Amino acid sequence: MTANRKAERRTALVTGASRGIGSGIARHLLDRGLQVAATYRSGQENVQKLALAYPELVLPVHLDLTDPDGAPAAVEQIRARWGRLDSLILNAGVWSGGKLAKMDPSGWWGVIETNLRSTAAIARAAIPMLAEGDNSSIVIVGSVVGEVGFAGDTAYASTKAAAVGFARSLAKELAPDGVRVNVLAPGFVETDMTAAVPDGSRRKIASETLLGRFGTVDEIARAAVFLSEDATFCTGTVLAADGGWSL
Ligand SMILES: NC(=O)c1ccc[n+]([C@@H]2O[C@H](COP(=O)([O-])OP(=O)(O)OC[C@H]3O[C@@H](n4cnc5c(N)ncnc54)[C@H](OP(=O)(O)O)[C@@H]3O)[C@@H](O)[C@H]2O)c1
Repeated sequence: MTANRKAERRTALVTGASRGIGSGIARHLLDRGLQVAATYRSGQENVQKLALAYPELVLPVHLDLTDPDGAPAAVEQIRARWGRLDSLILNAGVWSGGKLAKMDPSGWWGVIETNLRSTAAIARAAIPMLAEGDNSSIVIVGSVVGEVGFAGDTAYASTKAAAVGFARSLAKELAPDGVRVNVLAPGFVETDMTAAVPDGSRRKIASETLLGRFGTVDEIARAAVFLSEDATFCTGTVLAADGGWSL
């Protein structure tokens, strides 16, 4: 496919595709036959492995959420390579915890800026291409913590709660263009992000989760692909994939 010609396959942009949940989502979209622009910050090697496993279908894209110029540059690479974007999965994010009274204000705002500003910046850059397609979709990976809260998570939970208001407003803005906007709210999933969660918190979360266990990357990825590809009458919704933790 030459540059700027519209590719025939549906095309997705998955942020934070180098590991964890984002890597799982990228693989599931590729298995569904989409081509995927897979972003990484430090995990270039992992994304290169993905590209080797799915020849011609993966575009590795460096994207640092803290770089204000990063979003337009990333989206431009997709336009140049494939000329279309049908699905935007805003997955990359950071967690940094601590009780509010003890957290350094700059660290607190750093979480907000990294997670929330990048959500708006990447969505803004992607909207023109999304609006050109059919069944275009934005999925924001939020968190159940944005709904139920968690001690030590005021900054992170604020970004995840904000994602819901952001998505519902954007769903209203983009419905005339046929672009759906939804939030996926996972419960606790074993990834690098949760590796340092202490045993006491793990026991508490597991005991509060109706299904009595943590979710897997695979389960969250399937829910993300459902929202992106199959949920053609869903917009402005929040899909909890949390084993019942939020009930
Ligand atoms: N794990 C859970 O229990 C859980 C629960 C609810 C919601 N979530 C949400 O699910 C999403 C993925 O979480 P995860 O558990 O898979 O996390 P993870 O294992 O820590 O992976 C984070 C991903 O985000 C990328 N990333 C981190 N900081 C970045 C930055 N400044 N710029 C660009 N990319 C950055 C990383 O890229 P590199 O590796 O290339 O640096 C990596 O691909 C997050 O939004 C998280 O809040 C997770």
